[in-house]
Amino acid sequence: MEFTVSTIAPENCPCDLLILGIPEGEILVGPAATVDQALGGILRKVVQEERFTGKSRSTLLFHTHDRIPPRRLLLVGLGSPSRLTTDHLRQAAAIGVNTAQSHHLAHIAMPLLDRFPAKEEAQAVVEGTILGSYRFRKYKRADEEGMVEKVELLTTPDRGEEVNTAIRRAAIFASATCFARDLVNEPPNELTPSRLAEIAREVATQKGIRCTIYGPEEMRQMGMGAILSVAQGSSQPPRFIVMEYTPPQAKRTVALVGKGVTFDSGGLDIKSTEGMETMKMDMAGAAAVIAAMSALPDLAPPVHVLGIAPAVENLPSGTATKPGDIVRAMDGHTIEINNTDAEGRLILADALAYAVQQGAEEIIDLATLTGSCIIALGPICAGIMGNDQRLIDRLVQAASRAGEKVWQLPLFEEYFEPMKSEIADLRNSGGRYAGAQKGALFLREFVGGKPWAHLDIAGPAFVEHDEAKGPYWPKGSGTGFGVRTLLEYLTSTVDETNKQGSGEHR
Ligand code: BES
Ligand code: MN
Ligand code: ZN
Repeated sequence: MEFTVSTIAPENCPCDLLILGIPEGEILVGPAATVDQALGGILRKVVQEERFTGKSRSTLLFHTHDRIPPRRLLLVGLGSPSRLTTDHLRQAAAIGVNTAQSHHLAHIAMPLLDRFPAKEEAQAVVEGTILGSYRFRKYKRADEEGMVEKVELLTTPDRGEEVNTAIRRAAIFASATCFARDLVNEPPNELTPSRLAEIAREVATQKGIRCTIYGPEEMRQMGMGAILSVAQGSSQPPRFIVMEYTPPQAKRTVALVGKGVTFDSGGLDIKSTEGMETMKMDMAGAAAVIAAMSALPDLAPPVHVLGIAPAVENLPSGTATKPGDIVRAMDGHTIEINNTDAEGRLILADALAYAVQQGAEEIIDLATLTGSCIIALGPICAGIMGNDQRLIDRLVQAASRAGEKVWQLPLFEEYFEPMKSEIADLRNSGGRYAGAQKGALFLREFVGGKPWAHLDIAGPAFVEHDEAKGPYWPKGSGTGFGVRTLLEYLTSTVDETNKQGSGEHR
């Protein structure tokens, strides 16, 4: 897919499909008005006859029958103008590209709206186009759909430069997101811990960043008893993946830590059929971290970043860890494993301790950690918790600019009590209430007091339910959730610490 900037008037742009985003009740203003004029008023007529009002996600497609160079028009409703955010533009672009693909239209064009800074609009539109066109086709024989080849963004001459820069940045953000989706969508027989590690190494080599992979023997030497206990039920050996982006003028060290359970059966505390069905997605945190790391050399932020992804399979067997086992994590904490299905926090315990040992000054972890977080916030929103409100605030702002929903949950100290064991320092499960907080409070023990934020992405990492589906979130697919938030955060907070992004529309 190739993106270009053009200053041609929309009504004169030769293309298969001209996509016009229409705020509700503002149907014939801006580009739509000039297109209507060029068509001698028939756009106005069709809109009235079809009762198109610009309601969010509504569409109207029609042929121009050679009256103007664009062969077809697609109006996409943007909903209420007063509630318009850049994510509405991202979604409208995704609706546009989906229409183009299902009608086999290769060349599309979209005028920018001029309601937000050019770079924000262009970034949202380009991301929406790439993310909306995403399909996981690897294991499918036939393609019923066409591919969009050329995307023209129409703007004024003074904004061309800014739009070009935004296209490049957005393409990096969206490609990294699609890379994370591909990893999540791979079936668990293919994407084992060792395959995930191989892919991380391949991409690191391509992008010129460092990558070190540790196997079980090295993990034993480092004292990673918690990860090893999860891995011991599977014949697939665990991998501890460490990627490192080291720019010359680095000002600080940030560690990104991602949960990489390539399949979560629950272990001996085995899950139900329904509960287990989508558990190949339990490595979405690791996917987001690996994908974000892969994009850093192209974005070149002046931050030293460690990408850490512990990868294991959680299976029941004669060698599996049992409820009642006590293991020792890398930092010396002992953990009574009272539920083998609370495995994510076990592998993260060692990974967080490793990040601290490696000199991380700030730690952000992403994990499909608890079903409880999905109950609390639903399937489209991640929970964020941590020990540093400034870091949490900056991540929430970055997420908002990225169009990803993140909501802070409290960490009530009372809920740490049930995480204490009678006979070990901690236990890995503390009962059914406030599960997302209990998971986070457990993790907090391993960050050595460093500024730390935890994103529980169990809900938004994978589109399992209809209610989570969206123009750029196809059902049954990984979403790549977290990648764009991480990239926004790492590329903007260094010198814009106190500046609120204008993508902040909550
Ligand atoms: N991977 C699951 C959490 C999950 C559930 C992610 C549904 C995505 C969708 C995690 O390992 C898990 O099983 N968590 C348990 C923890 C409990 C045993 C303390 C849970 O949430 O039930
Ligand atoms: Mn589990
Ligand atoms: Zn899990």
